[in-house]
Amino acid sequence: MMAASQIKPTAVAIIGAGDIFPAYAKGLAQFGNLRLIGVADAKPEAAQSRAAEFDLPLMSLDQLLGSEAEIIINLTPPLAHRAVGEAVLKAGKHLYTEKPLAGSFADGAALMEKAAALGLRIGCAPDTFLGGAGQAARALVDANGIGRIVAGQATMMERGPDDWHPNPEFFYRPGAGPLMDMGVYYLTQLVQLLGPITLVSGLAHTSWPLRQIPRGPRQGEHIKVETPTHLVAGLTFEQGAFITLSTSFDVWKHKSSHIELFGELGSLVLPDPNQFGGELELCVADGDWAAQAPLAFTGRHRGLGVAEMADALRSGRPHRASGEMALHVLEAMDAILRSAEQQAPLALQTRCARPDPVPAGFAASLQMQEQCA
Ligand SMILES: NC(=O)c1ccc[n+]([C@@H]2O[C@H](COP(=O)([O-])OP(=O)(O)OC[C@H]3O[C@@H](n4cnc5c(N)ncnc54)[C@H](O)[C@@H]3O)[C@@H](O)[C@H]2O)c1
Repeated sequence: MMAASQIKPTAVAIIGAGDIFPAYAKGLAQFGNLRLIGVADAKPEAAQSRAAEFDLPLMSLDQLLGSEAEIIINLTPPLAHRAVGEAVLKAGKHLYTEKPLAGSFADGAALMEKAAALGLRIGCAPDTFLGGAGQAARALVDANGIGRIVAGQATMMERGPDDWHPNPEFFYRPGAGPLMDMGVYYLTQLVQLLGPITLVSGLAHTSWPLRQIPRGPRQGEHIKVETPTHLVAGLTFEQGAFITLSTSFDVWKHKSSHIELFGELGSLVLPDPNQFGGELELCVADGDWAAQAPLAFTGRHRGLGVAEMADALRSGRPHRASGEMALHVLEAMDAILRSAEQQAPLALQTRCARPDPVPAGFAASLQMQEQCA
Protein backbone atom coordinates (compact mmCIF):
# COMPACT_ATOMS: atom_id res chain seq x y z
CA MET A 1 0.00 0.00 0.00
CA MET A 2 1.28 3.48 -0.92
CA ALA A 3 2.08 5.91 1.94
CA ALA A 4 -0.30 8.90 2.05
CA SER A 5 2.57 11.29 1.21
CA GLN A 6 3.31 9.36 -2.05
CA ILE A 7 -0.24 9.67 -3.39
CA LYS A 8 -0.57 12.29 -6.13
CA PRO A 9 -3.16 14.90 -5.16
CA THR A 10 -6.43 14.76 -7.11
CA ALA A 11 -6.85 17.76 -9.43
CA VAL A 12 -10.14 19.60 -8.83
CA ALA A 13 -11.61 22.73 -10.43
CA ILE A 14 -14.54 24.99 -9.57
CA ILE A 15 -17.42 26.33 -11.67
CA GLY A 16 -19.07 29.29 -9.93
CA ALA A 17 -17.05 32.16 -8.47
CA GLY A 18 -19.72 33.71 -6.25
CA ASP A 19 -20.25 34.24 -2.54
CA ILE A 20 -19.30 30.74 -1.32
CA PHE A 21 -16.17 30.47 -3.47
CA PRO A 22 -13.70 31.85 -0.85
CA ALA A 23 -14.86 29.31 1.77
CA TYR A 24 -14.11 26.51 -0.72
CA ALA A 25 -10.78 27.96 -1.89
CA LYS A 26 -9.62 28.23 1.76
CA GLY A 27 -11.23 24.95 2.84
CA LEU A 28 -9.83 22.84 -0.02
CA ALA A 29 -6.32 24.14 0.73
CA GLN A 30 -6.39 22.19 4.03
CA PHE A 31 -6.42 18.86 2.24
CA GLY A 32 -3.09 17.68 0.86
CA ASN A 33 -4.89 15.05 -1.23
CA LEU A 34 -6.48 17.80 -3.39
CA ARG A 35 -5.05 20.36 -5.82
CA LEU A 36 -7.31 23.21 -6.99
CA ILE A 37 -6.29 23.93 -10.58
CA GLY A 38 -8.70 26.58 -11.80
CA VAL A 39 -11.96 28.51 -11.65
CA ALA A 40 -14.54 29.45 -14.29
CA ASP A 41 -17.87 31.27 -14.20
CA ALA A 42 -20.56 32.21 -16.70
CA LYS A 43 -19.54 35.78 -15.81
CA PRO A 44 -15.84 35.94 -16.79
CA GLU A 45 -15.31 39.03 -14.59
CA ALA A 46 -16.44 37.07 -11.50
CA ALA A 47 -13.99 34.26 -12.28
CA GLN A 48 -11.23 36.76 -13.01
CA SER A 49 -11.62 38.49 -9.68
CA ARG A 50 -11.61 35.20 -7.68
CA ALA A 51 -8.66 33.85 -9.70
CA ALA A 52 -6.67 36.97 -8.84
CA GLU A 53 -7.76 36.91 -5.18
CA PHE A 54 -6.65 33.28 -4.69
CA ASP A 55 -3.78 33.20 -7.19
CA LEU A 56 -5.46 30.56 -9.35
CA PRO A 57 -5.46 29.98 -13.10
CA LEU A 58 -8.47 31.69 -14.74
CA MET A 59 -10.25 29.36 -17.19
CA SER A 60 -13.14 29.60 -19.59
CA LEU A 61 -15.87 27.01 -18.97
CA ASP A 62 -14.65 24.99 -21.96
CA GLN A 63 -11.03 25.10 -20.76
CA LEU A 64 -12.09 23.95 -17.32
CA LEU A 65 -14.22 21.08 -18.69
CA GLY A 66 -11.28 19.99 -20.86
CA SER A 67 -8.71 20.37 -18.07
CA GLU A 68 -6.90 17.64 -16.12
CA ALA A 69 -9.40 18.03 -13.23
CA GLU A 70 -10.80 14.66 -12.11
CA ILE A 71 -13.55 16.19 -9.97
CA ILE A 72 -15.35 19.41 -10.88
CA ILE A 73 -17.04 21.30 -8.07
CA ASN A 74 -20.28 23.07 -8.98
CA LEU A 75 -20.85 26.27 -6.95
CA THR A 76 -23.62 27.76 -9.09
CA PRO A 77 -27.17 28.55 -7.82
CA PRO A 78 -29.56 25.55 -7.47
CA LEU A 79 -31.51 26.11 -10.69
CA ALA A 80 -28.22 25.85 -12.67
CA HIS A 81 -27.13 22.61 -10.94
CA ARG A 82 -28.65 20.23 -13.48
CA ALA A 83 -27.30 21.94 -16.64
CA VAL A 84 -23.84 22.57 -15.16
CA GLY A 85 -23.76 19.05 -13.68
CA GLU A 86 -24.69 17.49 -17.02
CA ALA A 87 -21.93 19.45 -18.77
CA VAL A 88 -19.42 18.20 -16.17
CA LEU A 89 -20.51 14.57 -16.62
CA LYS A 90 -20.53 14.91 -20.41
CA ALA A 91 -16.92 16.05 -20.17
CA GLY A 92 -16.11 12.74 -18.41
CA LYS A 93 -15.48 14.31 -14.99
CA HIS A 94 -16.79 13.30 -11.59
CA LEU A 95 -19.13 15.91 -10.14
CA TYR A 96 -19.24 17.34 -6.63
CA THR A 97 -22.07 19.82 -6.32
CA GLU A 98 -23.22 22.31 -3.74
CA LYS A 99 -26.63 21.65 -2.24
CA PRO A 100 -29.27 20.86 -3.14
CA LEU A 101 -28.34 18.22 -5.75
CA ALA A 102 -30.66 20.03 -8.19
CA GLY A 103 -33.61 22.43 -8.18
CA SER A 104 -36.15 19.59 -8.21
CA PHE A 105 -36.30 15.84 -7.60
CA ALA A 106 -36.84 15.22 -11.34
CA ASP A 107 -33.68 17.17 -12.20
CA GLY A 108 -31.67 15.42 -9.48
CA ALA A 109 -32.87 11.99 -10.66
CA ALA A 110 -31.87 12.88 -14.25
CA LEU A 111 -28.37 13.84 -13.06
CA MET A 112 -27.96 10.59 -11.14
CA GLU A 113 -29.14 8.57 -14.16
CA LYS A 114 -26.63 10.30 -16.41
CA ALA A 115 -23.77 9.69 -13.97
CA ALA A 116 -24.69 6.01 -13.67
CA ALA A 117 -24.86 5.63 -17.46
CA LEU A 118 -21.41 7.19 -17.82
CA GLY A 119 -19.84 5.32 -14.88
CA LEU A 120 -19.07 8.61 -13.08
CA ARG A 121 -19.58 9.64 -9.47
CA ILE A 122 -21.66 12.42 -7.96
CA GLY A 123 -20.89 13.84 -4.55
CA CYS A 124 -23.02 16.53 -2.96
CA ALA A 125 -22.98 18.99 -0.08
CA PRO A 126 -23.77 19.24 2.74
CA ASP A 127 -20.68 17.46 4.02
CA THR A 128 -21.02 18.88 7.55
CA PHE A 129 -22.37 15.53 8.79
CA LEU A 130 -18.78 14.27 8.40
CA GLY A 131 -17.74 16.78 11.08
CA GLY A 132 -17.03 16.15 14.75
CA ALA A 133 -20.55 16.84 16.01
CA GLY A 134 -22.37 14.67 13.47
CA GLN A 135 -19.90 11.84 13.95
CA ALA A 136 -20.07 12.02 17.77
CA ALA A 137 -23.87 11.85 17.49
CA ARG A 138 -23.55 8.91 15.11
CA ALA A 139 -21.27 7.05 17.53
CA LEU A 140 -23.76 7.64 20.37
CA VAL A 141 -26.75 6.52 18.30
CA ASP A 142 -24.94 3.43 17.00
CA ALA A 143 -23.87 2.53 20.58
CA ASN A 144 -27.58 2.64 21.55
CA GLY A 145 -26.87 5.62 23.85
CA ILE A 146 -30.51 6.77 23.83
CA GLY A 147 -32.00 3.43 22.79
CA ARG A 148 -34.40 3.11 19.87
CA ILE A 149 -35.16 6.61 18.59
CA VAL A 150 -38.91 7.13 18.46
CA ALA A 151 -39.31 10.85 17.81
CA GLY A 152 -37.51 14.15 17.42
CA GLN A 153 -37.68 17.72 16.25
CA ALA A 154 -35.51 19.89 14.03
CA THR A 155 -35.76 23.66 13.70
CA MET A 156 -34.09 26.06 11.27
CA MET A 157 -35.77 29.43 11.55
CA GLU A 158 -34.19 32.77 10.67
CA ARG A 159 -35.06 36.04 8.93
CA GLY A 160 -33.53 35.01 5.58
CA PRO A 161 -30.31 35.83 3.73
CA ASP A 162 -31.54 39.15 2.28
CA ASP A 163 -29.24 41.23 4.48
CA TRP A 164 -25.89 39.47 3.88
CA HIS A 165 -25.88 37.81 0.47
CA PRO A 166 -24.89 40.04 -2.48
CA ASN A 167 -27.47 38.39 -4.80
CA PRO A 168 -30.24 37.01 -2.55
CA GLU A 169 -32.83 36.46 -5.33
CA PHE A 170 -32.09 32.75 -5.76
CA PHE A 171 -32.98 32.04 -2.12
CA TYR A 172 -36.62 32.92 -2.93
CA ARG A 173 -36.88 30.80 -6.07
CA PRO A 174 -37.70 27.09 -6.49
CA GLY A 175 -34.66 25.02 -5.50
CA ALA A 176 -34.02 27.21 -2.45
CA GLY A 177 -36.29 28.76 0.20
CA PRO A 178 -35.62 27.80 3.82
CA LEU A 179 -36.30 24.10 3.21
CA MET A 180 -34.07 23.41 0.19
CA ASP A 181 -31.39 25.95 1.16
CA MET A 182 -31.10 25.24 4.91
CA GLY A 183 -33.40 22.34 5.78
CA VAL A 184 -31.10 20.23 3.62
CA TYR A 185 -28.44 20.34 6.40
CA TYR A 186 -30.95 19.09 8.97
CA LEU A 187 -32.39 16.35 6.77
CA THR A 188 -28.93 15.10 5.73
CA GLN A 189 -27.85 14.91 9.37
CA LEU A 190 -31.06 13.04 10.29
CA VAL A 191 -30.66 10.58 7.40
CA GLN A 192 -27.03 9.83 8.28
CA LEU A 193 -28.15 9.14 11.88
CA LEU A 194 -31.45 7.32 11.30
CA GLY A 195 -31.45 6.11 7.72
CA PRO A 196 -34.04 6.82 5.02
CA ILE A 197 -37.41 8.57 5.27
CA THR A 198 -40.51 6.75 4.00
CA LEU A 199 -43.35 9.27 4.32
CA VAL A 200 -43.61 13.06 4.56
CA SER A 201 -46.44 15.44 5.29
CA GLY A 202 -45.92 19.16 4.67
CA LEU A 203 -47.53 22.51 5.40
CA ALA A 204 -46.16 25.58 3.63
CA HIS A 205 -46.78 29.29 3.97
CA THR A 206 -45.45 32.52 2.45
CA SER A 207 -45.64 35.41 4.91
CA TRP A 208 -44.58 38.14 2.45
CA PRO A 209 -44.89 37.77 -1.34
CA LEU A 210 -42.42 40.63 -1.81
CA ARG A 211 -39.35 41.26 0.35
CA GLN A 212 -37.25 44.39 0.60
CA ILE A 213 -33.44 44.13 0.87
CA PRO A 214 -32.74 45.86 4.20
CA ARG A 215 -29.11 46.99 3.71
CA GLY A 216 -26.01 46.84 1.51
CA PRO A 217 -25.48 48.14 -2.03
CA ARG A 218 -28.93 46.93 -3.12
CA GLN A 219 -30.77 48.28 -0.07
CA GLY A 220 -34.44 49.00 -0.76
CA GLU A 221 -34.71 46.74 -3.81
CA HIS A 222 -37.58 44.25 -3.81
CA ILE A 223 -37.40 40.48 -4.33
CA LYS A 224 -40.40 38.53 -5.59
CA VAL A 225 -40.93 35.44 -3.43
CA GLU A 226 -41.55 32.37 -5.64
CA THR A 227 -41.26 29.54 -3.09
CA PRO A 228 -42.74 29.15 0.43
CA THR A 229 -40.77 30.81 3.24
CA HIS A 230 -42.24 29.03 6.29
CA LEU A 231 -42.67 25.26 6.25
CA VAL A 232 -43.53 22.60 8.80
CA ALA A 233 -43.16 18.90 7.98
CA GLY A 234 -43.77 15.55 9.63
CA LEU A 235 -41.24 12.88 8.62
CA THR A 236 -41.65 9.14 9.17
CA PHE A 237 -38.33 7.26 9.07
CA GLU A 238 -37.98 3.66 7.93
CA GLN A 239 -36.61 2.72 11.38
CA GLY A 240 -39.86 4.00 12.91
CA ALA A 241 -39.08 7.47 14.29
CA PHE A 242 -41.48 10.37 13.67
CA ILE A 243 -39.69 13.73 13.45
CA THR A 244 -41.07 17.22 12.94
CA LEU A 245 -39.06 19.77 10.94
CA SER A 246 -39.68 23.53 10.88
CA THR A 247 -37.83 25.76 8.42
CA SER A 248 -38.41 29.48 7.96
CA PHE A 249 -36.99 32.69 6.51
CA ASP A 250 -39.73 34.65 8.33
CA VAL A 251 -38.55 34.54 11.97
CA TRP A 252 -36.21 36.99 13.73
CA LYS A 253 -35.43 34.89 16.81
CA HIS A 254 -36.52 31.71 18.56
CA LYS A 255 -35.34 29.48 21.41
CA SER A 256 -35.73 25.98 19.94
CA SER A 257 -32.73 23.63 19.60
CA HIS A 258 -31.39 22.76 16.15
CA ILE A 259 -32.02 19.01 16.39
CA GLU A 260 -33.40 16.95 19.29
CA LEU A 261 -33.72 13.17 19.19
CA PHE A 262 -35.92 11.33 21.68
CA GLY A 263 -35.11 7.66 22.38
CA GLU A 264 -36.51 4.96 24.63
CA LEU A 265 -33.57 5.45 27.03
CA GLY A 266 -32.92 9.19 26.80
CA SER A 267 -32.59 12.32 24.65
CA LEU A 268 -29.83 13.82 22.52
CA VAL A 269 -29.51 17.46 21.43
CA LEU A 270 -27.29 18.23 18.43
CA PRO A 271 -25.68 21.55 17.50
CA ASP A 272 -26.17 23.46 14.22
CA PRO A 273 -25.81 20.93 11.36
CA ASN A 274 -24.56 23.77 9.13
CA GLN A 275 -21.30 23.61 11.16
CA PHE A 276 -18.76 20.80 11.45
CA GLY A 277 -18.23 21.09 15.22
CA GLY A 278 -20.26 22.09 18.29
CA GLU A 279 -21.21 20.46 21.56
CA LEU A 280 -23.86 17.79 21.97
CA GLU A 281 -26.00 17.25 25.06
CA LEU A 282 -27.06 13.83 26.25
CA CYS A 283 -29.62 13.02 28.87
CA VAL A 284 -30.25 9.47 30.09
CA ALA A 285 -33.87 8.96 31.18
CA ASP A 286 -34.87 11.96 33.35
CA GLY A 287 -31.31 12.61 34.59
CA ASP A 288 -29.29 15.77 34.04
CA TRP A 289 -28.03 16.96 30.67
CA ALA A 290 -24.34 16.15 30.11
CA ALA A 291 -22.20 17.83 27.46
CA GLN A 292 -20.59 15.48 24.94
CA ALA A 293 -17.43 16.50 23.10
CA PRO A 294 -17.37 16.36 19.30
CA LEU A 295 -14.91 14.04 17.51
CA ALA A 296 -12.42 15.13 14.79
CA PHE A 297 -13.08 17.93 12.24
CA THR A 298 -14.56 20.74 14.31
CA GLY A 299 -13.36 23.81 12.37
CA ARG A 300 -14.13 25.32 8.98
CA HIS A 301 -13.66 22.35 6.70
CA ARG A 302 -15.73 23.34 3.67
CA GLY A 303 -14.70 20.87 0.99
CA LEU A 304 -14.22 17.92 3.37
CA GLY A 305 -16.75 16.02 1.26
CA VAL A 306 -14.64 16.62 -1.86
CA ALA A 307 -11.45 15.44 -0.08
CA GLU A 308 -13.30 12.37 1.21
CA MET A 309 -14.66 11.67 -2.30
CA ALA A 310 -11.15 11.96 -3.80
CA ASP A 311 -9.85 9.51 -1.18
CA ALA A 312 -12.74 7.13 -1.93
CA LEU A 313 -12.01 7.31 -5.67
CA ARG A 314 -8.36 6.43 -5.09
CA SER A 315 -9.22 3.44 -2.90
CA GLY A 316 -12.27 2.32 -4.88
CA ARG A 317 -14.71 2.53 -1.95
CA PRO A 318 -18.03 4.42 -1.92
CA HIS A 319 -17.84 8.09 -0.90
CA ARG A 320 -19.91 9.32 2.02
CA ALA A 321 -21.46 12.65 0.86
CA SER A 322 -23.06 10.69 -1.94
CA GLY A 323 -25.43 11.56 -4.77
CA GLU A 324 -27.71 8.73 -3.58
CA MET A 325 -28.16 10.31 -0.16
CA ALA A 326 -28.50 13.79 -1.70
CA LEU A 327 -31.19 12.53 -4.10
CA HIS A 328 -33.11 10.92 -1.24
CA VAL A 329 -32.97 14.17 0.78
CA LEU A 330 -33.97 16.15 -2.34
CA GLU A 331 -36.94 13.84 -2.89
CA ALA A 332 -37.99 14.38 0.74
CA MET A 333 -37.84 18.18 0.32
CA ASP A 334 -39.61 18.12 -3.05
CA ALA A 335 -42.29 15.85 -1.55
CA ILE A 336 -42.79 18.16 1.47
CA LEU A 337 -43.54 21.01 -0.95
CA ARG A 338 -45.87 18.85 -3.07
CA SER A 339 -47.56 17.44 0.03
CA ALA A 340 -48.30 20.99 1.17
CA GLU A 341 -49.83 21.83 -2.22
CA GLN A 342 -51.88 18.61 -2.34
CA GLN A 343 -52.72 18.68 1.38
CA ALA A 344 -51.90 14.97 1.62
CA PRO A 345 -48.99 12.89 2.98
CA LEU A 346 -46.67 11.47 0.31
CA ALA A 347 -44.62 8.25 0.31
CA LEU A 348 -41.04 8.53 -0.99
CA GLN A 349 -39.75 6.37 -3.84
CA THR A 350 -36.02 6.50 -3.09
CA ARG A 351 -34.06 5.18 -0.15
CA CYS A 352 -30.37 5.29 0.66
CA ALA A 353 -27.98 3.50 2.96
CA ARG A 354 -26.48 5.45 5.86
CA PRO A 355 -22.92 6.46 4.95
CA ASP A 356 -20.29 4.61 7.02
CA PRO A 357 -19.06 6.51 10.10
CA VAL A 358 -15.77 8.37 9.59
CA PRO A 359 -12.95 6.19 11.00
CA ALA A 360 -10.52 7.47 13.64
CA GLY A 361 -7.35 8.92 12.08
CA PHE A 362 -9.16 9.79 8.85
CA ALA A 363 -7.57 13.28 8.70
CA ALA A 364 -4.19 11.63 8.02
CA SER A 365 -5.44 9.95 4.84
CA LEU A 366 -6.58 13.36 3.57
CA GLN A 367 -3.08 14.71 4.30
CA MET A 368 -4.56 17.58 6.27
CA GLN A 369 -2.61 20.79 6.60
CA GLU A 370 -3.23 23.31 9.34
CA GLN A 371 -6.87 23.92 10.16
CA CYS A 372 -8.44 26.73 8.17
CA ALA A 373 -9.29 29.90 10.17
N1 LIG B 1 -23.34 31.74 -0.08
C1 LIG B 1 -23.27 30.85 0.91
O1 LIG B 1 -23.00 31.18 2.08
C2 LIG B 1 -23.50 29.39 0.63
C3 LIG B 1 -23.29 28.50 1.70
C4 LIG B 1 -23.43 27.14 1.46
C5 LIG B 1 -23.80 26.69 0.20
N2 LIG B 1 -24.04 27.57 -0.82
C6 LIG B 1 -24.45 27.03 -2.13
O2 LIG B 1 -23.46 27.35 -3.08
C7 LIG B 1 -24.07 27.56 -4.36
C8 LIG B 1 -23.66 28.93 -4.85
O3 LIG B 1 -24.07 29.91 -3.90
P1 LIG B 1 -23.43 31.38 -3.90
O4 LIG B 1 -23.98 32.01 -2.68
O5 LIG B 1 -21.98 31.32 -4.10
O6 LIG B 1 -24.17 31.99 -5.19
P2 LIG B 1 -23.76 33.33 -5.99
O7 LIG B 1 -24.99 33.79 -6.68
O8 LIG B 1 -23.04 34.26 -5.09
O9 LIG B 1 -22.70 32.79 -7.06
C9 LIG B 1 -23.03 31.88 -8.08
C10 LIG B 1 -22.07 32.04 -9.24
O10 LIG B 1 -22.42 31.07 -10.23
C11 LIG B 1 -22.35 31.69 -11.51
N3 LIG B 1 -23.21 30.97 -12.43
C12 LIG B 1 -24.57 30.97 -12.44
N4 LIG B 1 -25.02 30.15 -13.41
C13 LIG B 1 -23.93 29.63 -14.01
C14 LIG B 1 -23.75 28.73 -15.09
N5 LIG B 1 -24.79 28.17 -15.72
N6 LIG B 1 -22.48 28.40 -15.46
C15 LIG B 1 -21.42 28.94 -14.81
N7 LIG B 1 -21.53 29.82 -13.80
C16 LIG B 1 -22.78 30.15 -13.39
C17 LIG B 1 -22.77 33.13 -11.28
O11 LIG B 1 -22.30 33.98 -12.30
C18 LIG B 1 -22.16 33.42 -9.91
O12 LIG B 1 -20.88 33.98 -10.02
C19 LIG B 1 -25.57 27.36 -4.15
O13 LIG B 1 -25.92 26.04 -4.48
C20 LIG B 1 -25.75 27.59 -2.65
O14 LIG B 1 -26.85 26.85 -2.15
C21 LIG B 1 -23.88 28.91 -0.62
